[in-house]
Amino acid sequence: MQFSYHNPTRIHFGQGQSQQISREIPASAKVLVLYGGGSIKRNGIYQQISKALTGHQWTEFAGIEPNPSVETLDKAVELVKAQGIDYLLAVGGGSVIDGTKYIAAAAQYEGYGWDILSGKHKVRQALPIGVVLTLPATGSESNAAAVVTRTATHEKRSFYAPAVHPKFAIMDPSVMATLPDRQLSNGIVDAFVHVCEQYLTYPTGASVQDGFAEVILRNLCLLASHYDQRHSAQWQENMMWNANQALNGLIGAGVPQDWATHAIGHELTALFNMDHAQTLAVVLPALLREQQPGKTRKLEQMGRNVFDLKGPQLAEQTIQAIEVLFRSVGVMTTLSDYDINRHDVATQVLPAIADHDILPLGEHRDIDLGRCEAILMRSV
Ligand code: NZQ
Ligand code: ZN
Repeated sequence: MQFSYHNPTRIHFGQGQSQQISREIPASAKVLVLYGGGSIKRNGIYQQISKALTGHQWTEFAGIEPNPSVETLDKAVELVKAQGIDYLLAVGGGSVIDGTKYIAAAAQYEGYGWDILSGKHKVRQALPIGVVLTLPATGSESNAAAVVTRTATHEKRSFYAPAVHPKFAIMDPSVMATLPDRQLSNGIVDAFVHVCEQYLTYPTGASVQDGFAEVILRNLCLLASHYDQRHSAQWQENMMWNANQALNGLIGAGVPQDWATHAIGHELTALFNMDHAQTLAVVLPALLREQQPGKTRKLEQMGRNVFDLKGPQLAEQTIQAIEVLFRSVGVMTTLSDYDINRHDVATQVLPAIADHDILPLGEHRDIDLGRCEAILMRSV
């Protein structure tokens, strides 16, 4: 095993922690506050932030949409450059945070911003970012990844750069009070699949990574089974912290990783505007069945240690338990549930995958276009 691990995001967790913003952002900074469609204006978070920034010079950029588009984000890049902004404060879920990461990098790059997503430009510098998390799901608040969509071409792509790792994150679980159930359920599924992408590969004997991954998976199952308590402080605290730990780099350090479910899922969002977590709930079970020979041992380990399963066909029993879990929180697990059929797969999804140069996928790099077809046809 070999890895370098450094997570530089300072986390302020708990109610009332937005006060820390004024201490975290240098007094001399010119701050841009970025947010989405306005939920923060309706639930008091905007007011908390305005108060915390009283002593700072700041302005705002609103309207970053779910699955943020480069078209919208480039408007913020222009604003940052024109006004000499030197600190970005993202207030929202994964979309606002990811969008802010792109803006932070693109503002320090003279070329065409999409080069960052296409891989033509390797990000080495970016403006500093602070985060106020409003939706636990992606882990983006303390990782170095971002996913951005180019609406014009139906492309959804990611980049990874330590330079965009947030400097600090305010994680106050009480902000979840106004989250619609659909987003809470999406959060459970997204966090669960993040762990699967880093755990459901093949055994390497990494006991810290495996053990920690299994704890998070069990916790997420518990949160799902106690979904009726989702308005309690304890449920919200555990949800927010588990989702963060699922993708802060720790459980993936030095172990094989898959991420094919995410890559195929991004194509479905770009084409059909499905929620990120909906795509994962559809692709993961089909992918696990298609890739089962290579994943049997980890699926069996998960069945025993997470779902308390035993007996024959343990790997298949585990996949079924995952499907039951997703559906138990209302996230459906077949493409037909979202009105997408075999013809759509053949005529739209597969050509998009072939076009976007994302293959081969999987921990063994053995998922080619033929296997994507098999996975997607299984998921209809
Ligand atoms: O825009 P507003 O008005 O804020 O409403 C949002 C949005 O409509 C709403 N919302 C957020 N907090 C709320 C709230 N509504 C009421 N009360 C609150 N406290 O929720 C809606 C969805 O928000 P979004 O940010 O899109 O959700 P999520 O956090 O699930 O982020 C999804 C995006 O993150 C990417 C996904 O691909 C997708 O683009 N991901 C980023 C990752 C990363 N950076 O590491 C990893 C993930 O795998 C994922 O790919
Ligand atoms: Zn995800």
